[in-house]
Amino acid sequence: MADIDRSHLGLTAPIVTARLILRSVKTADDVMLTRIWTDPDVRRYMGGPLEPGAVRHRNTDFVGKPGKYCVAIRASGEPIGLLGIGADRRSGNWEVSYGFLPEHWRRGYAREAVHALLVWVFERVPDAELIAANTRTDNEPSRRFLEAIGGRFVESFGDHAESVMYAIPRSGVPGETGSGVGTAGTGFL
Ligand SMILES: CC(C)(COP(=O)(O)OP(=O)(O)OC[C@H]1O[C@@H](n2cnc3c(N)ncnc32)[C@H](O)[C@@H]1OP(=O)(O)O)[C@@H](O)C(=O)NCCC(=O)NCCS
Repeated sequence: MADIDRSHLGLTAPIVTARLILRSVKTADDVMLTRIWTDPDVRRYMGGPLEPGAVRHRNTDFVGKPGKYCVAIRASGEPIGLLGIGADRRSGNWEVSYGFLPEHWRRGYAREAVHALLVWVFERVPDAELIAANTRTDNEPSRRFLEAIGGRFVESFGDHAESVMYAIPRSGVPGETGSGVGTAGTGFL
C-alpha cells in the first residue's frame, strides 16, 4: 500500500468544484448522515438500514474525521452525500466509498465529487497508482458509476463472489496535477 498517514487525509480547506463543496463532516450534518444510514434505497446493497444505536455511533464518529467527507451543494450549502477514503486491507490499496441522497441521483454529483476527491488524493499520495472501490456484485448503479469514472473491473471476491473490486488508476483521473485544495475539479471529466 502507498505509504500515507491517515491524518494526512484531513482537509485543511474545502475542495471546491463547479457545483459542490467537499468538506469535513460536522455535527450539523446529522440529518443527512442519518438518512445515508437508514434510507432503504441508499442502503439497498449494503445490508439495509442501520439500527438507531449504530446510526448514533457513526454520526458521532464521522464528525471531523480524516478520510470522511461531506458533499454539499455549493450554492445552498445543502449536504447531499458522503465520501470516504480508507485502507482496503484485503487488496492493500486505498479505497474510495460514496453514498448520496436519492433525490440527488443522476445529476452527475457523485461523478463530480468523487473525481475531485481522487484528484486530491492522488496529489497527496505521489506513489499511489490506483484507488480501489469495492461494491456488491448486484449493485448495478454503483458498478456503472465506477465504470463511468474510469474504474476497471479487477476481480470478484467473497465466499459467493458477492463483491467486486474496481481499480481507478491515476492515469484514469485526468487533471490530477496543479488543481490544489480549494480549486480541484472545476472542469469535469
Ligand atoms: C452509486 C451512486 C453514488 C451514484 O450517484 P449519482 O450521483 O447518481 O451518480 P452520477 O449522477 O454522478 O452518475 C455518473 C454516471 O454513473 C452511471 N450511473 C450512475 N447511476 C446509475 C444507475 N442507477 N444506472 C446506471 N448507470 C448509473 C452513469 O454512467 C452516470 O452517467 P449518466 O447519468 O450521464 O448516464 C448513487 O446511486 C448512490 O448513492 N447509491 C447508494 C449508495 C451506494 O450503493 N454506494 C455504493 C456502496 S459500495
